[in-house]
Amino acid sequence: MKNIVILISGSGSNMDAIIRCAKAQNWEMHFKAKVTAVISNRPSAKGLGLAQDHGVTTEVVDHTTFANATNPREAFDTALIKEIDQHAPALVVLAGFMRILTPMFVAHYAERLVNIHPSLLPAFPGLHTHQRAIEAGCKFAGATVHRVSAELDHGPILAQAVVPVMKDDTPESLAARVLTQEHLIYPAAIAKLLES
Ligand code: GAR
Repeated sequence: MKNIVILISGSGSNMDAIIRCAKAQNWEMHFKAKVTAVISNRPSAKGLGLAQDHGVTTEVVDHTTFANATNPREAFDTALIKEIDQHAPALVVLAGFMRILTPMFVAHYAERLVNIHPSLLPAFPGLHTHQRAIEAGCKFAGATVHRVSAELDHGPILAQAVVPVMKDDTPESLAARVLTQEHLIYPAAIAKLLES
C-alpha cells in the first residue's frame, strides 16, 4: 500500500478535496494508495475535524512547544519526521501547511514531498499572494502544485491552474476563485503521481 500523509495548518479544504477524490476514484483499488494520516502543527486547525469525519487518523505536532529548544525549527521538524515516518509514507502532501521547512526535512522526503501554492509560481512565492497579484495589476492569477525543494515555494512544477483577476477583486474574492481550482488540480496531480 502507498501511504499518503497530509500536513495541514488550517481549514484543510485541499486535504478534504484530496480525501474525497481518493474515495470517489477508489485510489485504494486503482493505485493501492490510501490517506493514512493528517497531521497539523496547530491543535486548533479546523481541518482536523474534517479528517476525523472521513475516518482518517489525525495527529498534532504543535510547533509552539519547541520554542525553547536550542534550534526550534530543527527540533520541530525532527519530531514531525518521527510522527510522519510511523506511516511509512510514499507521499507527503503539504496542504496549507504554513511552516518553513528545514533542508533536513526536505532532503528526508526527497521525491516524496509535494506542495500547493496559491500563485502561478515562480511569481509570488511566500505570503499574501493574492494581494500582491492584485497590487501588481496581474490580469491572471492561479495556483501551482510542485515538488518541494529546499527553497521556499520552489521545485519542479507538476500542475497549474489559471483564473482571471477581476477589476473589483479583493484578496478574499481572488483567493476563493483560486481555491476552487486548487481543489481540482491537487487531487488530479496526486493521482498522476500515484499512477506513475
Ligand atoms: C491554500 O490556498 C494553499 O494554496 C495555501 O494555503 C491555503 C490553505 O487552504 N498554501 C500556502 O500558501 C502555502 N505556501 P486549505 O487549508 O483550505 O487547504
